Amino acid sequence: MIKTIEYVDGVVRMIDQTRLPAEKKFVDCRTIEEVGQAIKTMIIRGAPAIGVAAAMGVSLGADSIEAASYDDFYRILEEKCDRLGESRPTAVNLAWGINRMKKVAQQNKDLPIGELKSKLREEALSIITEDISTNQMMGQHGQTLVKDGSVILTHCNAGALATAGFGTALGVVRAAANAGKDIKVLANETRPFLQGARLTTWELKEDGIPVKLITDNMCGFFMNKQEIDLVVVGADRIAANGDVANKIGTYMVAVLAKENGIPFYVAAPISTVDISLSNGDQIEIEERSSNEITEFRGVPIAPDGVEAFNPGFDVTPAKYLSAIITEAGIIRPPFNKNLNSAVNSDV
Ligand code: MRU
Repeated sequence: MIKTIEYVDGVVRMIDQTRLPAEKKFVDCRTIEEVGQAIKTMIIRGAPAIGVAAAMGVSLGADSIEAASYDDFYRILEEKCDRLGESRPTAVNLAWGINRMKKVAQQNKDLPIGELKSKLREEALSIITEDISTNQMMGQHGQTLVKDGSVILTHCNAGALATAGFGTALGVVRAAANAGKDIKVLANETRPFLQGARLTTWELKEDGIPVKLITDNMCGFFMNKQEIDLVVVGADRIAANGDVANKIGTYMVAVLAKENGIPFYVAAPISTVDISLSNGDQIEIEERSSNEITEFRGVPIAPDGVEAFNPGFDVTPAKYLSAIITEAGIIRPPFNKNLNSAVNSDV
């Protein structure tokens, strides 16, 4: 199994996703600040993986604190957490991972500081195993939607690399393949950061699952020819009404899928649902450097000085979703009601 992130001898080790597929190199983070930097620079990316990295970062941050009292310890930890929380804005998992760790610290305030640090380490490690089993459950539910012989379109990378392992959208793909179904994947390249071309094809190839790469602007062509049976993507944040923030271009894929009568599924853990936001307009969208648009790997592809927009995500209105695949089962419209009950039975 691909180990996206793990804890080895006091360091948090992650696959450097900026270097894939050319080389599989690892980056070791020894401090919470290094983890924050790894998230910011996309060494690790994908909503659930960001949440896991954040929790592990908080554990490293806690380890570094020299404090005589819980109050001093927690004040310093909170400052570190606040800085870590600024690394990327859109995926809810960053705040989710940090808040879960802060809660563990608060619940164990009476422990000696050394034991509190061990508790935080245990919590971060349990988030890794939980994430993998959540993805496997999601995969089991999701694969029931995949018929033998299906061609599945996906956008960006919502695979093992975007999680602690197995993946969300690609978890559905893996579970279908494991169930003996003959499936094929079409991967949108996902301009401009190329998560589809670089990461999705890499990890599916590693697993021997048939995959073909297309550019983002080709998916309508294949849908129109009825060569795609279903679309499965991940999510960075889901509002209470079912609006979904995911990688830029997802909205375009969803609209095309509806127009062509193709089911469009979002696979995401319940923790991705941000019930505090009534709709997707309230989701903060990361604006990334315009160099990602005007250059290709450092080589200019637009005239010098040309300005560019580079929103990293878009919001797909809930009306385009056939269902949301979660570890708790398949959630169908009306999302307002059904997401609410799923979230409430999860807490
Ligand atoms: O900018 P990225 O690569 O972090 O964006 C990732 C995505 O948009 C994924 O589709 C999403 O996080 C779901 S990953 C299981």
